[in-house]
Amino acid sequence: MLLQEGATSRQLGKARKFLAANPVFNVLTLGDTYAPLLAVSKLFLATERTAVTGVCSLYHPFNRKPSVALSTATPETKKALLNVALRQVSGEFITLCGHDEVEAVKAYAAVLNLEIELQMVANPPKHLRSNVKVSRVRKKDVEELDRFYSEQDSRAWTPLQFKVGPFYCVKRNGKIVSAAGTHLKTPQIAHLGSIATSEAYQRQGFAAACTSALALDLASKGRIISLFVKSDNKPAIGMYEKLGFKKIREIAFITARKDYRGSA
Ligand SMILES: CC(C)(COP(=O)(O)OP(=O)(O)OC[C@H]1O[C@@H](n2cnc3c(N)ncnc32)[C@H](O)[C@@H]1OP(=O)(O)O)[C@@H](O)C(=O)NCCC(=O)NCCS
Repeated sequence: MLLQEGATSRQLGKARKFLAANPVFNVLTLGDTYAPLLAVSKLFLATERTAVTGVCSLYHPFNRKPSVALSTATPETKKALLNVALRQVSGEFITLCGHDEVEAVKAYAAVLNLEIELQMVANPPKHLRSNVKVSRVRKKDVEELDRFYSEQDSRAWTPLQFKVGPFYCVKRNGKIVSAAGTHLKTPQIAHLGSIATSEAYQRQGFAAACTSALALDLASKGRIISLFVKSDNKPAIGMYEKLGFKKIREIAFITARKDYRGSA
């Protein structure tokens, strides 16, 4: 097995093809191979002869903890990829990984926090009958969106996300009070994120209407729609089920600190 950092454009094409064979499991790594996230991500490839056998991405937007994601691969390949990727990390990082990958993370890092999330998928999402007026967020409203998400303490939002794909919102008195957005987008799959409604406006069908408009827009080009939700967030899970999402697997959302003794 050969391990390398970065990819030529030919290797990038091969990596995308490898990841697209399982877009649901590889949603994070696949999403990081496309602009604009590619510009703030480092890719690590495992290859056998010239075939890609695994990918690790280190997504590191300005002002955020780096986020590490692994693709489908053998346990040995995952561990080797994680080792090279974590050489680029000092201090704290986050990773969203399958249960089978938690031990590999523990080999190189001290786990500070672990939450269980669910990956839910709609293929296709259901149409929602709703009287709520939803609009697509325009470029001129990005500052207002940023204000809304800061107020909601939304952990996945950075203004860079607005360049990834559409965001939909409900406004009241000129202010955004509910929104849903695109976290990752590739030709095969889109991953939703930053779904929230201000407390004073909850239970009026706003988040369901935003998420439905967003999911239908992204699915209109044949994409699978995916998202992560905390396994104990019953209100949100109920809403996603109404929109046609089904639970696919559990994911560990880990905050960890690089352990220098564990690294090779
Ligand atoms: C989850 C959240 C986005 C829902 O926003 P909302 O605008 O109130 O949701 P809606 O009014 O569109 O509700 C749609 C459905 O979700 C479910 N739901 C929403 N809030 C609920 C609650 N408090 N209890 C139980 N079910 C709830 C219901 O099934 C509801 O349909 P119904 O009203 O016909 O019963 C909102 O509670 C929120 O911002 N929470 C904090 C952020 C968050 O958890 N985001 C999701 C991250 S994945």
